[in-house]
Amino acid sequence: MSAELPFLVASASGFTGTRVVELLLERGHAVRALVHREDARSQRLTDIGAEVVVGDLLDLGSVSNALRGVGSAYFVYPIAPGLLDATAVFAQAAAENEIRAIVNMSQISARRDSESKAAQQHWIAEQVLNWAPVPVTHIRPTFFAEWLVKHGKSVAQENILRLPLGDGRHAPIAAEDQAHVISAVLEDPRPHAGQVYTLHGPVEMNHYEVADVFSRVLGRPIKYEPIELDTFAANLTRAGRSEHLVQHLCAVAVDYRHGLFAGTNDVVERIGKTSGTTVESFVEQNRGFFTA
Ligand SMILES: NC(=O)c1ccc[n+]([C@@H]2O[C@H](COP(=O)([O-])OP(=O)(O)OC[C@H]3O[C@@H](n4cnc5c(N)ncnc54)[C@H](OP(=O)(O)O)[C@@H]3O)[C@@H](O)[C@H]2O)c1
Repeated sequence: MSAELPFLVASASGFTGTRVVELLLERGHAVRALVHREDARSQRLTDIGAEVVVGDLLDLGSVSNALRGVGSAYFVYPIAPGLLDATAVFAQAAAENEIRAIVNMSQISARRDSESKAAQQHWIAEQVLNWAPVPVTHIRPTFFAEWLVKHGKSVAQENILRLPLGDGRHAPIAAEDQAHVISAVLEDPRPHAGQVYTLHGPVEMNHYEVADVFSRVLGRPIKYEPIELDTFAANLTRAGRSEHLVQHLCAVAVDYRHGLFAGTNDVVERIGKTSGTTVESFVEQNRGFFTA
């Protein structure tokens, strides 16, 4: 293990946080993992060598304690009410502990006039962090490949991918590839200070093409069925998703249809030094989620 100051990873039990912790540990760094609660996920982080601390990103005392003696930090908060509070708390805690740099998880649809409350809050959060006396790098991913797991239950149960995304396109990006970019910036933040990186996976496709990939990898026909927003909203609400998340997902689905999530670039290769996970290999790795 190096003699450097440890890295702090927030939301360390989440998709991107977990993989950032693993990568930094694999590279010989000391990592403090801030988790919301002790459970099997946090125990696993302890087992692989992280210093696990339990804390609430909405509580200045616990965040400031977690950032004590830290070099650089990854800030990520779920799509849930409280992003702006958590951002302000993190900025204050980072300032009072004089940390070197922050990588901030935002999203591709973050903008001042977004119809999604969560996406607009991501944009405001970027501004708040820019005011803090700590260099910040913002990452703005398109939809995660993990979105296919979260919304892919119908693939396992009915061989249908049912989403309100028309024939809009994006290049799904795996948490794995984001973690390579985040870790690279945390390790050497200076050249990335003040940058905003849009993150895409390696191949842009629409959901008819995504369904074709599912069919090839799973060896059975999977169909994409575009649905209307009100059907999508009703399905999410029935599944117990929060009003905040439903409002966000419906608003960004409209953005998606208008092309806001489309595109590819070389950030994962250039900064993350990895070739990027294809949808083929993502479905292969997560086959169990898509099989009844
Ligand atoms: N999904 C996408 O397609 C997409 C695309 C672009 C950007 N994003 C952005 O990615 C972010 C989510 O990243 P992710 O998927 O890596 O995270 P995630 O899997 O949603 O995990 C979030 C973690 O935060 C923890 N948490 C929740 N409230 C907390 C609190 N008050 N204090 C401390 N920890 C708390 C949760 O712990 P518990 O589970 O124990 O509660 C969970 O482990 C969001 O900001 C979203 O806007 C997502």
